[in-house]
Amino acid sequence: LDNGLMRIPPMGWLAWERFRCNTDCENDPKNCISEALFRDMADRLAEDGWRELGYVYVNIDDCWASKNRDAQGRLQPDPKRHYFDNDMPTSSSVSLTCLVVVKGFPSGIAKLARYVHDRGLKLGIYGDLGTYTCGGYPGTTLDKIETDAQTFAEWEVDMLKLDGCYSNSTDQEQGYPLMSRALNATGRPIGYSCSWPAYQGGLPPKINYTLLGEICNLWRNYGDIEDSWDSILSIVDWFTENQEILQPAAGPGRWNDPDMLVIGNFGLSMDQSRSQMALWAIMAAPLFMSNDLRTLNSGARAILQNKAVIAINQDPLGIQGKRLIKENNDIEVFWRPLSNKASALVFFSRRTDMPFRYLTSLKALNYTAGSYMVYDVFMEKPMPTLKDTTQFVVSINPSGVVMWFVCGVLCSTSCLPC
Ligand code: DGJ
Repeated sequence: LDNGLMRIPPMGWLAWERFRCNTDCENDPKNCISEALFRDMADRLAEDGWRELGYVYVNIDDCWASKNRDAQGRLQPDPKRHYFDNDMPTSSSVSLTCLVVVKGFPSGIAKLARYVHDRGLKLGIYGDLGTYTCGGYPGTTLDKIETDAQTFAEWEVDMLKLDGCYSNSTDQEQGYPLMSRALNATGRPIGYSCSWPAYQGGLPPKINYTLLGEICNLWRNYGDIEDSWDSILSIVDWFTENQEILQPAAGPGRWNDPDMLVIGNFGLSMDQSRSQMALWAIMAAPLFMSNDLRTLNSGARAILQNKAVIAINQDPLGIQGKRLIKENNDIEVFWRPLSNKASALVFFSRRTDMPFRYLTSLKALNYTAGSYMVYDVFMEKPMPTLKDTTQFVVSINPSGVVMWFVCGVLCSTSCLPC
């Protein structure tokens, strides 16, 4: 979508995979979908070095709204959900009357947007083109599209994810373009994430990627990510099997979205976490973390904050990468062209035995004759210069990757990302 937004893949944090539809603020105040959660994540993004790396969106997902629209028919945050503010003293010597009961979104979304903006960040919100959201909250039926776009703009929201539960293909054909126009008509720049393809199998002829690129900044193509390696593999499988369709659809302002980064949660090993990061960077995917930034371990943090992998993901040319080679020994090679004639390579192992020593050359990977500088992204160090014909070996851990940033020696050392 040419609205001037998201010329490089958007980065930030999104609540869904990690926090789901947890509305039990009374018993689980720190983890329920409430204003406090989004303030906490905004604080972490601003104070722990994320914002400077590009992670600027703080995105609300499902289950934020009241089950009822207000008297004017507008969406409103849940006024009943409440929690005991955990910043208050909780020792038994403190009388219960000291504890302040705060509503789920006590200050409203506009105030939360201000809080987020004051920290140099952007706020994303969630809606659903149907009678209900997937979690059973009010949806944005066709007659409500303009009202909801207007409400989000008045709240000074910066991005909308429009889900597709409880809508049919006719509603979607009308509704997704209609919302695009309605957001544009508000005059406020609002990034637009469409779940449309995910509800229609993600492929032509049901999905017209040219049209999607004209009306949406990003779109979910496929099913929901879960906190497991199986889930990552099924997503990578689908995206690579269909790469000839998906790859040309992406570019500045319009991105395929293989769903959130689950790095830092419970399901992935360190190698698998590096694999998700590397493959999402090669795919020019939006980088929305869904994890608990308050308790992230240092290994996950290092992967998510790796400057070279972020630079590859955020390359201004915005060309999505592809799988080049699928060996029958479960080794695969991915490649993405980058600006200044640089490129990125990912050597990926689906093996489950031991580190695999993969022998190849840049020539075998379609590189033209010449010498190349190579920077190992996760080792965080330059490698010896390589001629295209030089045979080399990379040792790839089971379910892991080796990722390289490659550039011709003719370009200055400044073309290395670090
Ligand atoms: C389905 C979407 O694909 C998920 O990302 C999430 O937004 C849920 N709906 C919320 O109910």
